[in-house]
Amino acid sequence: MKELKSEEDAFGQEMWACYRGERTSEIVERDDGYVEASPYGPKMYFLEYEDWPVFERKAVESAKGRVLDIGCGAGRHSLHLQKKGLNVLGIDSSPLAIKICGLIGIKKARVMSIEEVDFKPDSFDTIIMMGNNFGLLGSFEKARKLLKRFHKITSKNGLIIASTRDTYKTEIPDHLEYHRLNRKRGRMSGQLRIRVRFRKYVGRWFDYLIVSKKEMQEILKGTGWKIKEFIDSDNSEYIAIIEKS
Ligand SMILES: C[S@@+](CC[C@H](N)C(=O)[O-])C[C@H]1O[C@@H](n2cnc3c(N)ncnc32)[C@H](O)[C@@H]1O
Repeated sequence: MKELKSEEDAFGQEMWACYRGERTSEIVERDDGYVEASPYGPKMYFLEYEDWPVFERKAVESAKGRVLDIGCGAGRHSLHLQKKGLNVLGIDSSPLAIKICGLIGIKKARVMSIEEVDFKPDSFDTIIMMGNNFGLLGSFEKARKLLKRFHKITSKNGLIIASTRDTYKTEIPDHLEYHRLNRKRGRMSGQLRIRVRFRKYVGRWFDYLIVSKKEMQEILKGTGWKIKEFIDSDNSEYIAIIEKS
């Protein structure tokens, strides 16, 4: 993936504005024209550990050793784990997100997209994908390809800690219609094609995959990974602790 041009870094710009204390919101546009604006979006990426939801705190406690934080955003998980003494590398496709990581004291943060993740064998003990970032795996096929790569770069007892939301836990007619549209065009129901907008900045379109627990288990088959534990929230979000099979 080519590095984002400044005008495409909508994610980074919303985080940068939030970091500077400006009023922010997160606008996500889906390819069926559905638009959602969340005033919490960017603020969530700066939450202190004490303010994270309980299920997220519980999940992140499983992280050990050398950690790769994929789509680290403004670095809240990287910073927490670094403070605990873990050796963390945060990566994000947004140059501005990585700039913020540096400013808040993260020692190792790099502009890199998930598609570029390729390290020497046994480079990490834990990969974390928080804030629904299981979604960055994009599609059924792409997820399987990347998971096999993650298998190579992690240690024998490596773990993936990944959060997502159950696609089917919704009754919103527009979402149910979108699931049907996706299935008709040969995509998984929750393979969202979205882009982020902030002020005059417009991000690139990308596929963000949200899955049920059953679908996640299907994706993992034959990749060398299996579910160790699901950690539920009080809504459709959940976190999977994934171990080597
Ligand atoms: C929903 S935010 C989550 C941020 C952080 N993990 C958290 O929970 O606070 C998603 C992040 O993924 C990054 N991102 C989007 N596409 C990416 C890609 N292809 N590779 C790496 N990072 C990506 C965005 O720039 C953004 O910072």
